[in-house]
Amino acid sequence: MAFELPDLPYPHDALQPYMSAETLEYHHDKHHKAYVDNGNKLLQGSGLEGKSLEEVVKGAYGSNQGLFNNAGQHFNHLHFWKWMKPNGGGAIPGALEAKIKEDLGSVDAFKEAFIQAGVGQFGSGWCWLALKNGKLEVMKTPNGENPLVNDATPLLGCDVWEHSYYIDYRNRRPDYLKAFVENLVNWEYVAELYDAAS
Ligand SMILES: [Fe+2]
Repeated sequence: MAFELPDLPYPHDALQPYMSAETLEYHHDKHHKAYVDNGNKLLQGSGLEGKSLEEVVKGAYGSNQGLFNNAGQHFNHLHFWKWMKPNGGGAIPGALEAKIKEDLGSVDAFKEAFIQAGVGQFGSGWCWLALKNGKLEVMKTPNGENPLVNDATPLLGCDVWEHSYYIDYRNRRPDYLKAFVENLVNWEYVAELYDAAS
């Protein structure tokens, strides 16, 4: 099954002022497209053709670095567009909010830990809210890696590659992460993934 670039679930200018149309034009139309195109080339002859995207990501991890980088980033970005929405942030659906309080102390403690994971990721990578062994965890990963290859299910991720924020925030990664958490997160989609995983 070939990888395909999905349309954004909203217009390019829908996330302004927190994420500009210019950022999404580069990030979705060029960067994500490159992961799809390169991933499709590297999938040929890999022995993983015909597998689901999740199976390709896990199967290439540790054995086919080029394919893993591109398939991992394709997976991460597919979700990343859906992890955001116009007028995002705000209230967290009840069952997920209760689980965050149970496992991570409070919603504020979660937000702080998530932002700090993103700030503390040296170089390119992602910060995450993931479900591992029935418990919520905040984690960070380098480059295209994700919770799937760390025996966990990703529920929310924020891209901290410079291509995700440099046009709008320059070097102010903490401000970008704060805007993501407070104004962009599509909590209904996160809750949908939590329900499916639990
Ligand atoms: Fe990205």
